[in-house]
Amino acid sequence: MSALSETQFNAYNEDGYFFARGLFSPEEIQLLRETATNDHAMDQAASLRDDGTGARVRLSLWNHPGDGIYGMFARSHRVVDAVEQLLDDEAYHYHSKMILKDAKVGGAWAWHQDYGYWYQNGLLFPKLCSVMIAVDTATEQNGCLQVLKGSHHMGRVNHILSGDQAGADLERVEHAKEVFPLVHCTMTAGDALFFHPNLLHASAANRSDDPRWALICCYNARGNNPYKKSHHPCYTKLDKVDDEMIIQVGQNDSQRARVDFANLDSDDRSATSLSNDPNQ
Ligand code: SIN
Ligand code: MN
Repeated sequence: MSALSETQFNAYNEDGYFFARGLFSPEEIQLLRETATNDHAMDQAASLRDDGTGARVRLSLWNHPGDGIYGMFARSHRVVDAVEQLLDDEAYHYHSKMILKDAKVGGAWAWHQDYGYWYQNGLLFPKLCSVMIAVDTATEQNGCLQVLKGSHHMGRVNHILSGDQAGADLERVEHAKEVFPLVHCTMTAGDALFFHPNLLHASAANRSDDPRWALICCYNARGNNPYKKSHHPCYTKLDKVDDEMIIQVGQNDSQRARVDFANLDSDDRSATSLSNDPNQ
């Protein structure tokens, strides 16, 4: 049986994304939110930068999914089987990150393609996929993701470092905005958005009273193993877990927050051209 409907599969190829509404239950998301908001290590590991207007872009990232609840989401059949269908290959975990867009102060994300950064990591093909899982309900007010529908058809656009933000060449983004419809990806907690690495996306600052946290799990195709080492892993077998493991691990206090965060400030990215951007 295939993991995706024909409509979802076609939307991914034509639009560059699709929503899997209610992919995770309220109970599963509540356990994830509770774990993350009480996770001191996640807070400590978070990288912080200014979005250029004084608001704070904050995220924590890890390369290997681990055995805690974050890993149970990233390794669940529900997600990985769908990704493998999209990639038409075995998928491995490239990294996951929690986007900590806090109430009032959460910063904006500049327009970019994920492959705009990941290209630097020795990946020959844009055969990757990101799955954004809404931990909080995402609205226009709290800075939901925005995408230019169909923009992945452009292929990779140059990415430029300007100030603290690395983003897609703005001249091209402005023209792309005239061609592709801008979609605000409003999401209810538990919804997932599967999107293509060349899809242009951005998000506004969060001036509202509500946080907008999101877990983004990123996968690479086994056949797209990088030709050089980078700060994200080469092919590493992903052990899928049964979907009920999310609840099982989430209810186990000593197990649920188990993951090794990457130290975003001290890894080897200083030599790369987009060195300030934690998203690469
Ligand atoms: C966002 O959460 O608004 C964007 C994050 C990303 O592109 O990694
Ligand atoms: Mn991104």
